[in-house]
Amino acid sequence: EKGDTHIFVVLGASGDLAKKKIYPTLWSLYRDGLIPKKTIFVGYARSKLTVHDIRNKSEPYLKVRDEEKEKVNAFFKMNHYVSGSYDMPEDFLQLNQEICKYEMGSHCNRLFYLALPPNVFESSTTNIRNHCMASKGWTRIIIEKPFGRDSESSTQLSNHLNALFKEEELYRIDHYLGKEMVQNLMALRFGNRIFGPTWNREHISCVMVSFKEPFGTQGRGGYFDSFGIVRDVMQNHMLQMLSLVAMEKPVSTGAEDIRDEKVKVLRCMPEVKLEDVVLGQYIGNPSGEGEAKEGYLDDPSVPKGSTTATYAMVTCYVNNERWEGVPFFLRCGKALNERKAEVRIQYRDVPGDIFHGESKRNELVIRVQPGEAVYVKMMNKTPGMSFNIEETELDLTYGSRYKGLVMPDAYERLILDVFCGSQIHFVRSDELAQAWRIFTPILHKIETENVKPVTYTYGTRGPKEADELCQNKGFKFYGTYKWVKPASL
Ligand code: BG6
Repeated sequence: EKGDTHIFVVLGASGDLAKKKIYPTLWSLYRDGLIPKKTIFVGYARSKLTVHDIRNKSEPYLKVRDEEKEKVNAFFKMNHYVSGSYDMPEDFLQLNQEICKYEMGSHCNRLFYLALPPNVFESSTTNIRNHCMASKGWTRIIIEKPFGRDSESSTQLSNHLNALFKEEELYRIDHYLGKEMVQNLMALRFGNRIFGPTWNREHISCVMVSFKEPFGTQGRGGYFDSFGIVRDVMQNHMLQMLSLVAMEKPVSTGAEDIRDEKVKVLRCMPEVKLEDVVLGQYIGNPSGEGEAKEGYLDDPSVPKGSTTATYAMVTCYVNNERWEGVPFFLRCGKALNERKAEVRIQYRDVPGDIFHGESKRNELVIRVQPGEAVYVKMMNKTPGMSFNIEETELDLTYGSRYKGLVMPDAYERLILDVFCGSQIHFVRSDELAQAWRIFTPILHKIETENVKPVTYTYGTRGPKEADELCQNKGFKFYGTYKWVKPASL
């Protein structure tokens, strides 16, 4: 109910995630009047801080316009702060007392955002369960990855959480599910007659999901090194995109119906095999500029001689009636030549060619970022006297089609969903377990056999072995198509 009091508690309020993402998100939602009026924010962390300190830390990330100065003051007036440790029951009792002070009215709900390192996950959730549950409304728990580092540790965490909370109280964030184009995948597939009938192994040759970043680990080397690129983005963000591309049509757009279909796809996927993987690690480019000169191993926070992958390409299969034999390539890397996340559906060759082999395969590209777009690569007669055919596109570039549109940030959508109780874009326990089942054997193998990544130079496309692997498995890369930026952009 809009009129209820809501208390939003940020655990780990003094940390990086809180200042860079959570407070800015809460501010935007408050500014735009999207969350209930009676929402109070309570920060919690070990350090002895004040709301003033929290404000100073997060203000550089808030994006406040001049005319919003008063509003931002009003926002911080709704903020409070309690310091305490994550394992002391009495500190959580004190947090509870603080929360109770603001709980006026007959309905009061509580949201807990755990922006915390994994080592205090268990103690803090136990303490929330024992001392801080809402007595006059619902309680929802929002958690961030890492959700364990393999099947075993993730199951342990899920068992712990499931013993404390009901599934409908748990909101596991995968922020890719909050992105416009990821949410659009269902609309494209199930709202259009033209895609549905060809969305299968008869017509689609392969699917390529890419995640590319043009920067290295940027001082996050310590965290990154113990996880690696497969755990950092592939097992979560990329596999989520794959399931939305591959799943059957859900019974309805309800969260459980959609999540049921996603789990079914994952259950049809065999574990990834070592021969289907290319791992890479970037080295510096001596003629590059600034950070580009530095390789992964030059990052002082990375242990000497680390074999952690900063690039990975994996071929996955979905062995069901729709997809058997169609490779799904998941490709991700740091320190590459561009920033880009996209899903590329490559169709089969046209049978019965009459164009002397000139025809190139159709591709449907869903560009997640930057510059959201959906486009179809297609063949067209070269305009004019010529009878040749050439590649062109049917293009839906958001920047030109939806002028001036301000796209909400993924975190804004997701946190609003938690207020609304919508779990569509959150990861269910069984879905998470399946995702780890697919990747755990290969992750363990890489570690126990100390598989060495191949090197690639900062700012390039990544290891050539990856291009070779997907081309050997049937992906065609022509290198001839050029997307032309519309004049209006
Ligand atoms: C995070 C990863 O989950 O996603 C980061 O830990 C990565 O390594 C980030 O950079 C990418 O998110 P986005 O929204 O910038 O594409």
